[in-house]
Amino acid sequence: MALERVAVIGASGYGGLQTLRLLQQHPQFKVTFLGGERSSGKRWSELNPFLPLPGDPVVQSPDPETIAAQADLVVLSLPNGLAAQLVPPLLARGLKVVDLSADYRYRSLAQWQEVYAAEARQLPRSDGDLCAEAVYGLVEWHAEQIAGARLVAAPGCFPTASLLALLPFLRQGLIDPTGIIIDAKTGTSGGGRAAKEHLLLAEAAEAVSPYGVVGHRHTSEIEQLASQVAGSAITLQFTPHLMPMVRGLLATVYCRLRDPGLTAADCNTVLRSLYRQSETVAVLPVGTYPSTKWVRQTNRALLSVQVDNRSGQLIVMSAIDNLIKGQAGQGVQCLNLLAGLEANTGLPLLPFYP
Ligand SMILES: NC(=O)c1ccc[n+]([C@@H]2O[C@H](COP(=O)([O-])OP(=O)(O)OC[C@H]3O[C@@H](n4cnc5c(N)ncnc54)[C@H](OP(=O)(O)O)[C@@H]3O)[C@@H](O)[C@H]2O)c1
Repeated sequence: MALERVAVIGASGYGGLQTLRLLQQHPQFKVTFLGGERSSGKRWSELNPFLPLPGDPVVQSPDPETIAAQADLVVLSLPNGLAAQLVPPLLARGLKVVDLSADYRYRSLAQWQEVYAAEARQLPRSDGDLCAEAVYGLVEWHAEQIAGARLVAAPGCFPTASLLALLPFLRQGLIDPTGIIIDAKTGTSGGGRAAKEHLLLAEAAEAVSPYGVVGHRHTSEIEQLASQVAGSAITLQFTPHLMPMVRGLLATVYCRLRDPGLTAADCNTVLRSLYRQSETVAVLPVGTYPSTKWVRQTNRALLSVQVDNRSGQLIVMSAIDNLIKGQAGQGVQCLNLLAGLEANTGLPLLPFYP
């Protein structure tokens, strides 16, 4: 079987770098185009000598015509708003696209324009039809739709961890859909590779800081899919925290059980039966809680449940690597499905530990 040709746009950023590393080790894909803006015109080895690529390619400006001549599949790993400038001409040329940004995560363009108002003002767009068409790339829940798509919106890192934990209980109707709280922590690579003051070592080291309290952009993304699965509109509370670590994300979901007699063992069974076929979502025994270190560099999510029968609260914990299952790894899972391959082909499931 001939190797599928893949273009990676935003190659020099964190998502691009992880995608390239995964594609280098992949049995069926070959990278044929690297795109960027500031890095454009530079040889790859000048930019990232630590990740050698065959032929040491030059990064190019992402011209759709050139990309279409050199690739069949495209991964876009760009700041929000930019993918929507490239996707229409890429689809028109018959390419299939996985977008790692938020541009196609909402079914409604108006909602994207409201949540990403600053980007929408700078980069106007009118592709509401593509927002409606795009498939939300949460692989464990949408594999079949992804396989038949031409445009996949890979979920955000916080939504990935949160939804994998929350959706099984919403689908089974086991929890009260009101009063759900998600408390989440992430490492500094969640902010990308471009310089930002709050991500300097002197600012982020030895500190834990909440941010985006009330109204973080990922709240509405989580609510969209949670509402779809629950069959009714869900409003929830989501608070992220920046942790003094490079990579890793832990989401802890608190919700109220409808039947206060349910035990942690019952809830563990719910998760295990839902993810019994999955190689990428593992459910830990009751009383064992996931650490971000246990999923470092892997495309796995580790889940665990506990129940506090005094308060009637169900607590679901979910750990992922924000750059792999939360970004590039999930993107490659989607690429695999678009190419007719098994979703986990070529993806790492074992951690680098410690
Ligand atoms: N980091 C995470 O944990 C994470 C998780 C899930 C999803 N995401 C999403 O994934 C996307 C990429 O995130 P990231 O963390 O990888 O960002 P990043 O490290 O800042 O990388 C951004 C990339 O975009 C390129 N770029 C910027 N403007 C461009 C333009 N006008 N034309 C072409 N290329 C351009 C940059 O290339 P040059 O340097 O050449 O300009 C760089 O390679 C974002 O939408 C982010 O929200 C991130």
